[in-house]
Amino acid sequence: MRLLVTFARRIHKRPLYTPTSCLSSAASCSGAATNSGLQFRDDQLVCGSTGELVQRLRGQVEVSAEIESAARACCGTVDIAIHGYRETERAQWGAVCEGVMDRLRAVAFSEGSPLLGPVHVLDLDKAGYIKPHIDSVKFCGSTIAGLSLLSDSVMRLVREDEPAEWLNLFLPRRSLYILRDQARYKFTHEILKDDESLFSGQRVPRHRRISVICRNLPV
Ligand code: OGA
Ligand code: MN
Repeated sequence: MRLLVTFARRIHKRPLYTPTSCLSSAASCSGAATNSGLQFRDDQLVCGSTGELVQRLRGQVEVSAEIESAARACCGTVDIAIHGYRETERAQWGAVCEGVMDRLRAVAFSEGSPLLGPVHVLDLDKAGYIKPHIDSVKFCGSTIAGLSLLSDSVMRLVREDEPAEWLNLFLPRRSLYILRDQARYKFTHEILKDDESLFSGQRVPRHRRISVICRNLPV
């Protein structure tokens, strides 16, 4: 399965992104208490190059800040990270985690949508980060749903054919994000490295981060 995950990534070379404050670009921010002390409401967790873009992708990009404590149990299943990142895939979970996965699937995927069997677990070191990429259309379907654990982080979406169009998602630790349709196919996504980790002009310190990612299958 590691191979699948490797192939599932299409890394895009792009000119370096010039950071722009969400607020200074008149972006709309659509929020939560976090380990960095940043406070955003649930409707403030997404901001972007323009308010119009944020509106247009509403429904295709979702972030929910507070997931119930049971999700924390998932962290216990992953070993300590030693490098920039390591990853694994898990088909079977203990009862508590299975319950969390069931809830996640119910929220993110429509009933009967065939899912990629194993769940992908990615363990990013404090210095680790995820480069801009679009998940493989060959292996993965229209929806990507991830639990973001241990550390707050910033996910950036950039439109592949129009880099001026971007969204930043503030992912508090213990949040759930969902990318669908255009947000998943037309925009690259990435997790910013610690020294670039800014949301709405505010620094979001990145620590070790574990994500648990569910995907559906292409139709
Ligand atoms: C990936 C990915 C996002 C995350 O593994 O393809 O984009 O939340 N992960 O870790
Ligand atoms: Mn991805």
